[in-house]
Amino acid sequence: MLSGLNGKGLFFGNMKGGVGKSTLCMYTLEMIQRLKPELDILLVDTDPQASSSNMMQSIMPPEKIRFMPMGDRYDGVIMSTVDGVIKSQLVKDDSMVVVDSAAGKIGNIWQVALLCNTMIVPTSLSWTDMQPTIEYIEEIDSRKEDYGTTTPHIIVVPNRTSPNQRDYSLLTDAAKNLNVIVAPPVSDFSIVKQSSHNFRGLKDVEGTRFYDEIKGLAEFIVSHVMSGELDRIFAE
Ligand SMILES: Nc1ncnc2c1ncn2[C@@H]1O[C@H](COP(=O)(O)OP(=O)(O)OP(=O)(O)O)[C@@H](O)[C@H]1O
Ligand SMILES: [Mg+2]
Repeated sequence: MLSGLNGKGLFFGNMKGGVGKSTLCMYTLEMIQRLKPELDILLVDTDPQASSSNMMQSIMPPEKIRFMPMGDRYDGVIMSTVDGVIKSQLVKDDSMVVVDSAAGKIGNIWQVALLCNTMIVPTSLSWTDMQPTIEYIEEIDSRKEDYGTTTPHIIVVPNRTSPNQRDYSLLTDAAKNLNVIVAPPVSDFSIVKQSSHNFRGLKDVEGTRFYDEIKGLAEFIVSHVMSGELDRIFAE
């Protein structure tokens, strides 16, 4: 089905709002670009709020940013357009598509997720975030089963953890029953920018622990996704 697609798609999703989908999407994209300058990365923002596509304007060339709002309303971008944009990017060598999605049920955005090799699901360790996160992952797992596909592989990212947090058992216990791997955590940092006003991405967080954690996350994603390691792990 996806044969001929050389690039990797990374889909940032969670039906819970405010868990850090856009934040991790933006910083991780920029960090992956730093780690792998040869990669041609396209940002596809499907959230009608347009947060990441607006904020990344100061970081990426405009032709590498596509705002393709997919709501349940009629003014949303039609699926075949998004499908075409993603596929024509992924047929290129050394290409990547990073998708930021809106909160809410997976709905028809599932068709976009299906084009992606990996889904990145951020969550805090609070039960109010973990519960909908688990529900979301269960929904994706059952869809993958229905479609007879093993992708997108799911990577859960503990986000906004307390810097002193040592115990991730609530998440790792929940993860045992799910078809996921857990990435290194990202702590809660006040330096994380809230709005598009003056967003300068990694430039403003260099030399901080946040930078190191984003680097750790990006390296984890690169090593698992680009190498095909995830395909091996999930095949077992
Ligand atoms: N590691 C972090 N440290 C501090 N603040 C963070 C962190 N991650 C995210 N935030 C903040 O939490 C809020 C929600 O983050 P973000 O907008 O990325 O979530 P989201 O999942 O994309 O939300 P939505 O569902 O509305 O799209 C933002 O104000 C963001 O700046
Ligand atoms: Mg968002």
